[in-house]
Amino acid sequence: MGRRARGAGPTSRLLPLLLLLRLARGAAGEPGTDGLDVCATCHEHATCQQREGKRICICNYGFVGNGRTQCVDKNECQFGATVVCGNHTSCHNTPGGFYCICLEGYRATNNNKTFIPNDGTFCTDIDECEVSGLCRHGGRCVNTPGSFECYCMDGYLLRNGSEPFHPTIDATSCTEFDINLFSEIDCGTPPEITDRYIIENYVSRLGSQVCYACREGFFSVPEDTVSSCTAQGAWESPKLHCHEINCGNPPEMRHAILVENHSSRLGGVAHYICQEGFESPGGKITSVCTEKGTWRESTLTCTEILTKINDVSVFNDTCVRWQMNSERINSKIVYVISVKGQRLDAIESVHEETVKLTTDSRTPEVCLALYPGTNYTVHISIAPPRRSVPAVIGFQTAEDDILEDDGMFNISIFNETCLKLNRHSRKIGSEYMYQFTVLGQRWYLDNFSHATSFNFTTRERVPVVCLNLYPTTDYTVNVSLLRSPKPHSVQITIATPPAVKQTISNISGFNETCLRWNIIKKVDMEEMYLFHIWGQRWYQKEFVREMTFNISTSSQDPEVCLELHPGTNYNVSLRALSSEFPVVISLTTQITEPPLPEVEFFMVHRGPLPRLRLRKAKEKNGPISSYQVLVLPLALQSAFSCDSEGASSFFSNTSDADGYVAAELLAKDVPDDAMEIPIGDRLYYGHYYNAPLKTGKDYCIILRITSEWNKVRRHSCAVWAQVKDSSLTLLQMVGVGLGSVAVVIILAFLSFSAV
Ligand SMILES: *[C@@H]1O[C@H](CO)[C@@H](O)[C@H](O)[C@H]1NC(C)=O
Ligand SMILES: *[C@@H]1O[C@H](CO)[C@@H](O)[C@H](O)[C@H]1NC(C)=O
Ligand SMILES: *[C@@H]1O[C@H](CO)[C@@H](O)[C@H](O)[C@H]1NC(C)=O
Ligand SMILES: *[C@@H]1O[C@H](CO)[C@@H](O)[C@H](O)[C@H]1NC(C)=O
Ligand SMILES: *[C@@H]1O[C@H](CO)[C@@H](O)[C@H](O)[C@H]1NC(C)=O
Ligand SMILES: *[C@@H]1O[C@H](CO)[C@@H](O)[C@H](O)[C@H]1NC(C)=O
Ligand SMILES: *[C@@H]1O[C@H](CO)[C@@H](O)[C@H](O)[C@H]1NC(C)=O
Ligand SMILES: *[C@@H]1O[C@H](CO)[C@@H](O)[C@H](O)[C@H]1NC(C)=O
Ligand SMILES: *[C@@H]1O[C@H](CO)[C@@H](O)[C@H](O)[C@H]1NC(C)=O
Ligand SMILES: *[C@@H]1O[C@H](CO)[C@@H](O)[C@H](O)[C@H]1NC(C)=O
Ligand SMILES: *[C@@H]1O[C@H](CO)[C@@H](O)[C@H](O)[C@H]1NC(C)=O
Ligand SMILES: *[C@@H]1O[C@H](CO)[C@@H](O)[C@H](O)[C@H]1NC(C)=O
Repeated sequence: MGRRARGAGPTSRLLPLLLLLRLARGAAGEPGTDGLDVCATCHEHATCQQREGKRICICNYGFVGNGRTQCVDKNECQFGATVVCGNHTSCHNTPGGFYCICLEGYRATNNNKTFIPNDGTFCTDIDECEVSGLCRHGGRCVNTPGSFECYCMDGYLLRNGSEPFHPTIDATSCTEFDINLFSEIDCGTPPEITDRYIIENYVSRLGSQVCYACREGFFSVPEDTVSSCTAQGAWESPKLHCHEINCGNPPEMRHAILVENHSSRLGGVAHYICQEGFESPGGKITSVCTEKGTWRESTLTCTEILTKINDVSVFNDTCVRWQMNSERINSKIVYVISVKGQRLDAIESVHEETVKLTTDSRTPEVCLALYPGTNYTVHISIAPPRRSVPAVIGFQTAEDDILEDDGMFNISIFNETCLKLNRHSRKIGSEYMYQFTVLGQRWYLDNFSHATSFNFTTRERVPVVCLNLYPTTDYTVNVSLLRSPKPHSVQITIATPPAVKQTISNISGFNETCLRWNIIKKVDMEEMYLFHIWGQRWYQKEFVREMTFNISTSSQDPEVCLELHPGTNYNVSLRALSSEFPVVISLTTQITEPPLPEVEFFMVHRGPLPRLRLRKAKEKNGPISSYQVLVLPLALQSAFSCDSEGASSFFSNTSDADGYVAAELLAKDVPDDAMEIPIGDRLYYGHYYNAPLKTGKDYCIILRITSEWNKVRRHSCAVWAQVKDSSLTLLQMVGVGLGSVAVVIILAFLSFSAV
C-alpha cells in the first residue's frame, strides 16, 4: 500500500491509514462514538437501532447472530408443527420467517391457505359432506375429523366391498336396489357356527341380517351381534367372541365340607355337608355356577348342634338312662358321666368317679358301680367338641341287704405289679385282714427264689396293693382272708417283664481275659448272665471267633475269666436276663510265644553242611514279625536264652566267641512254601552278614522266630544244626546231598522257647 501512495503528498498518505484504523476498531464490536457510521457496517439481515444513546446492529426477526458479520435464519419449525402451528398442521420454514398450512381435511380459520399462528388462526375440520354428491349416487356422507365416510342410503346397496367406503379409495359405489339384479344372491350358512354360537332364524338373501348370540354356558363382551348378507353373496364375518363360562373353585362355607364331584361350568352344582357337630336345618347346602361366571352361594348355613339330654331316670337301683332329643344323631357320642356319692355316717364318706360311655343309642343307659345306701348326684354331659346341655339327677341307692359283707373278693392285676382286690359286697366299713404270700421263681435259674409274706388290713371296698417284684420272674401270689367267717383265698400268677433299667454296673476287665462287675439292685439272688463274644485279628482276616454261653451266680460282684485266644481283639456283650439291655466291653489279649519253629535237625561232623529249609510259622498266638538264624559256639548252646535281645552281627563282635546273627528275614519276605538258607554264603540278610564258619570249630545253629504286637515281643527258638570240627567252605558245600548227613532228626525235640 505504501508503494501505491508513493506519488501522493503526506496528507493523502495519512488519511487511508486512519480510516483503516477506525475500520479495525469498528470490527471489534465497539459502537462508534467518534462520528463513524456504525449502521453502514450492519449485516444485510440486520437493522441499525438506537439503544441507550448508542447505535447498534441487531439481526432481523427470524434471524440470529451478532448483527454485523453474522445473521443466520432461525428454523421456527424445529420444535414440530403441532407445537408451532397447532393441531392438524404442517410447518414451513422460510428465510427470516415461517408459515403454517392445514392438513388435508382441515382448513385455516382465516380461510387463507397459509397462516401464521400468532393471530389466533388454527386449523378446523372441514365438513366434506357439505359438498353434495361426494359419495356419488345413492351414497350418504358422514363427516369425522379430517375425513369422511360413505354409506348407502336406504333403497341402495353397495356393489361390492363393505361399508363404510371411500369413493376415491374403494372402487365401489351404491346402486339402487333392484330385485332383478340381486335376486340370485344367496349368502348360504352364516360363518363360524360352532357349538359356541347360536343364531336366530335368518334368510340368506341379499340384505338379510343374522343375529349372533352365545350358547348357554358361553359369554361374550358386548359386541355387534349382527352380520349382513352382502351383495357379494357372502356374510359379514361375526364380531361376537364367545368364551366358555367357568366359575372356578366353589366358595368355602363355614363349618361345611365340600363333597362330591362338581362341574365349574354353567349350572354346575357344588354340594356341602356340615362338619361334625353342625347341621343345616334348612336343607342341603349347595352352590350353583351362574351365567356370570361366579358361584351363587347357598343362603343356608351350618349351625352348631346343641344336643339336649332329656328324661334322665334311675332303674335297677344303680343304673341310669336318658333320652337324646336330636333326631340327627348318626354317629357315636361320647358321654361323660360323673358320679359323686355322699354318706353321712360312713368312714369312706365320699365316692367320686367319672365314667365314659360311647354309644349311638337314642336312649343310652349305663349301670354304675355305686355303694349302697348312699346319696348320689350324677352329671351327664357330652364330650367335646360337641356341646350339650348337661343333665343332673340325684338319688339314693338302696341299703344293701342282699349280700352280706363276708370279706369275699376277687383280684385283678394292673400296672404289671399292682393288685386290686374287688370285694364282692358293696357295703363299706367292715375291716378285714388279708395275708399276702409271694413266691417268685425263674425257670432259667435253679437256685433263684424270691419269697415274701405280709399281712394287710383295710376297710376299703377296692383296696390296691402294689408289690415290689423282680423283673423277668414268674410269681405266684396267694391272698388269703384271715379271721373271716369263711376261709377264702385267691391265687394269681404274675410274669414280670424284663427291667427297662440296666442292672450291671462298673464292668471292667482284669488279668487280660477276666471280667468283673457289680449288680445295681443289691439282693442276695441268683442271676443269669448271657455272654456273646466276638474275636477278631487285624493280621488274620480269616480269624473270627464267636461264642455264646451263659452263667448263673448269686454273687453281688461276680468275676468271670474267659478262655480267649492270644493276640486278639474281643468284644464282649453281657446281659443279665432280668434286664432288656446288655453292656458291651472290649478286651485285647496279649500275644504269646509263636509256635516252635518246624526244622529238620542236622548233626554234622567234619562233613558238608546241608541246606537249611526255613518254613513259615503259623500265626496262632500272634503276628510273626521276623526269622533269625543265630550261629553260636556249641559250648554256649545250653546257656543260650531265646529271649536274649543282645544278639549282634558278625562284625560287631571282636571275637565270635559269643555267637552272632547270620541272617534275618522279615516274615513278609518268607515265601509260603519254604526257602533255603545256605549258611556262610557271605551275603547280607537284613542287616546281618552271613559269614562262613571257621574251620575246626564247633557250632550250634539256631532258628529264632519273633512275634511282636502291642509293644510286646515274644520269641521261640529251635536248634537247627550242630556242626562239629567244621571244615567245609561254601563251595565245597554245593552238591552235597542229604545222604551224607550223619544224623537227621525230624522236628525239634531240642527246641526250647523263652519263658
Ligand atoms: C390438539 O389436540 C390435542 C389432542 O387431540 C388436544 O388435547 C388439544 O386440545 C388440541 N389443541 C387445540 C388447540 O385444539
Ligand atoms: C390472507 O392472505 C393475504 C395475503 O397473503 C393477506 O393479505 C390477508 O390479510 C390474509 N387474510 C386474513 C384474513 O388474514
Ligand atoms: C369391486 O368391483 C370392481 C369392478 O368389478 C373391482 O375392480 C374392485 O376390485 C371390486 N372391489 C372390491 C373391494 O371387491
Ligand atoms: C371328577 O370329574 C372329572 C370329570 O368328569 C373326572 O376327571 C375326575 O376324575 C372326577 N373326580 C372324582 C374324584 O370323581
Ligand atoms: C334289673 O336287673 C335285673 C337283673 O339283673 C334284670 O333282670 C332286669 O331286667 C333289670 N331291669 C331293668 C329295667 O333293666
Ligand atoms: C341323703 O340325703 C337325705 C336328704 O338330704 C338325707 O335325709 C339322708 O340322710 C341322706 N342319706 C345318706 C345315706 O346320707
Ligand atoms: C400305674 O402306672 C402309671 C404309669 O406308670 C402311673 O402313673 C400310675 O400312678 C400307676 N398307678 C398306680 C396305682 O400305681
Ligand atoms: C371280680 O369282681 C368284680 C366285681 O365284684 C367283677 O366285676 C369282675 O368281673 C370279677 N372278676 C373276676 C375275674 O371274677
Ligand atoms: C444251688 O445251690 C446249691 C446249694 O447252695 C448248690 O450246691 C448248687 O450248686 C446251686 N446250683 C446252681 C445251679 O448254682
Ligand atoms: C399274719 O397274720 C397271721 C395270723 O394272725 C400270723 O400268723 C402271721 O405271722 C402274720 N404274718 C405276718 C407276716 O405278720
Ligand atoms: C394260699 O394260702 C392259704 C393259707 O395259707 C392256703 O390255705 C392255701 O392252700 C394257699 N393256696 C395256694 C393255692 O397256695
Ligand atoms: C491275675 O492272675 C494272677 C494269677 O492267676 C493272680 O495271682 C492275680 O491276683 C490276678 N490279678 C488280679 C487283679 O486279680
